[in-house]
Amino acid sequence: MKRTKINKLLKSEGPIDDILIKGWIRTRRDSKTFSFIEMNDGSCLANIQVIADDKLPNYEDIRKINTGSSVSVRGKLVPSQGKGQKWEVQAEEFEIIQAAPEDYPLQKKRHSDEFLRTIAHLRPRTNKYGAAFRIRSDISYAIHRFFRENGFRYVHTPILTGSDCEGAGEMFKVTTLSAGRNDIQNDFFGKEAKLTVSGQLEAELLALALGDVYTFGPTFRAENSNTRRHAAEFWMVEPEMAFCDIEDNMDLAEKIIKYVIEYVFAECNQDLELFCRFVDKGLKSRLESIAGSDFIRLPYNEAVNIMKKSNEKFEFPASYGSDLQTEHERFLTEKYFKKPVIVFDYPKEIKPFYMRLNDDEKTVAAMDVLVPQIGEIIGGSQREERYAFLKSRMIESGLSLDDYWWYLESRKYGSAPHSGFGLGFERLIMLITGITNIRDVIPFPRTPKNIEF
Ligand code: 4AD
Ligand code: MG
Repeated sequence: MKRTKINKLLKSEGPIDDILIKGWIRTRRDSKTFSFIEMNDGSCLANIQVIADDKLPNYEDIRKINTGSSVSVRGKLVPSQGKGQKWEVQAEEFEIIQAAPEDYPLQKKRHSDEFLRTIAHLRPRTNKYGAAFRIRSDISYAIHRFFRENGFRYVHTPILTGSDCEGAGEMFKVTTLSAGRNDIQNDFFGKEAKLTVSGQLEAELLALALGDVYTFGPTFRAENSNTRRHAAEFWMVEPEMAFCDIEDNMDLAEKIIKYVIEYVFAECNQDLELFCRFVDKGLKSRLESIAGSDFIRLPYNEAVNIMKKSNEKFEFPASYGSDLQTEHERFLTEKYFKKPVIVFDYPKEIKPFYMRLNDDEKTVAAMDVLVPQIGEIIGGSQREERYAFLKSRMIESGLSLDDYWWYLESRKYGSAPHSGFGLGFERLIMLITGITNIRDVIPFPRTPKNIEF
């Protein structure tokens, strides 16, 4: 007999005579002749209550079973006598798969996020992290569904690469040479290889063939910034649209964020409720406001002017020509506009080579989407589709034309306006759950000096 998941059982329309459930013990309470056992199988936040009584041949062992033990229960789904749940399970066979010892680290009390990071192998079994990783899965699905409904094709771009998309030089090197050797010609690829920081360049090539595409995969950055919103390994969602300009790009960015929020409201109620109650009391109203508002669209120089004119004390005062700091992003979205802001037309000097040069020849058609609590969640642009402009921007940026010959060539044969962006997947989960540290939305996070698990 196949096991039934607890999320299905809890939604049952009527009693069921013979069911099999498997999962882990959360708590046990004994009375004289029977025990109440709260069991969870990870399929949903809620536990199911199991009643085990002294008619079971192994009842003596059941009375000793600890939190964390794995069990298999066969029995009847019956209306619950107690308050708080509609259904419970009357056990007819109760197999202890493995009895956990008493030192199971996840006892009933609440543990700090910092402590739970040190036991990342067990934290998915807590309510909060179980919910976080279920919602992570559900949001991935919502993203695929969004693109499918909008005519995008899912493409896979390489993770091992020879190019640096963002030109920031924050790449992890990949080599099979032993330490101390630097005869690259004898290395696996005969060339310097790195882990990708973005699938964009290859996604552009596919967009210029398939029309509208997106990648959704892991990316890597060796930036040594130990912040709450940076990880060395994170996932990015990167749509790329042929024959589209920056306006279309902004529309898509706004639409996907709203879509995912609506999806979570419709499909992830139980888990979302946990975050609203225990993680961030302002979460629900913030998400409703984001889903219901038109995002502000603001040229970069106006954004800088707003900050210069404000009386806000910034650690780094805003100035034309420097990138926006997190404190600026949060000021704009949380204090000034109180909603998401799309900043566009940045000075070309602070943006990568591939962004389309505007007619003023000073700014590029870049766009960053900023949201409350997080700051930048999306970075994107219209791409430079004009061969000569691209070439001179590459030279200006110190890129080797030989290394990127294939990228340049895409601007020679049937080039077309196209646009795209990168949505930081973990930052999206942070926005939706109210979790404030990126280490807590990734099951096994990779950050500077941390590669345990
Ligand atoms: O703004 P970024 O660097 O843009 C790109 O990589 C473009 N090539 C994307 C594209 O146009 N296809 O990164 C995009 C997003 C950021 O807005 C942020 O949400 C997230 O990726 N991000 C990170 N998330 C977690 N940890 C890091 N270290 C991140 N760096 C960027
Ligand atoms: Mg960016």
